[in-house]
Amino acid sequence: MLGIRLILNSLTPAAYDQALALWQACEGIGLSDADSRCGITRYIERNPGCSFGAWDGERLVGTILGGHDGRRGYIYHLAVHPDYRHRGIGKQLAEACLGALKAEGTNKVHLFVFNTNTSAIKFWEHIGWTLRKDISVMSLVMEKGTC
Ligand SMILES: CC(C)(COP(=O)(O)OP(=O)(O)OC[C@H]1O[C@@H](n2cnc3c(N)ncnc32)[C@H](O)[C@@H]1OP(=O)(O)O)[C@@H](O)C(=O)NCCC(=O)NCCS
Repeated sequence: MLGIRLILNSLTPAAYDQALALWQACEGIGLSDADSRCGITRYIERNPGCSFGAWDGERLVGTILGGHDGRRGYIYHLAVHPDYRHRGIGKQLAEACLGALKAEGTNKVHLFVFNTNTSAIKFWEHIGWTLRKDISVMSLVMEKGTC
């Protein structure tokens, strides 16, 4: 892997097929109906410039989806292909996304991580995030939306 020329840039819907394949190859990434082509396109277009891809040439090797709702920022799908881990790519993606969210006026960002994903929890803690013990997530599934 030495000598790879990695490019970090905004993730666009054109990368959907590669992104989905990457997420499917990464343990710890939960996929749902929100990850359809339409869902991801809508998310990226709603939050322009806040999602990033890491590229080794033509190959997408890392992703992060970022957005905000006008109040707090949210991060989804930080994923680095297993062959490319422990090279600083995940941290660079997180920093790029946080920089974009900060530029949008967001000063606090949340993310969801499976309780069983202790590796990712350690990663996030290592780069300064705090695991909240005071909050539980509640969800409600409604009738199908636009995507
Ligand atoms: C979590 C993940 C994105 C990390 O990507 P990565 O490119 O390997 O991470 P980096 O190389 O940028 O690591 C940055 C720092 O975190 C540390 N780190 C990385 N993984 C770690 C782990 N599992 N436990 C503890 N520290 C870790 C690195 O040693 C590095 O430390 P340093 O800056 O002091 O040298 C990657 O393991 C992954 O894709 N996991 C599967 C998908 C997933 O669970 N995503 C998170 C969903 S919430």
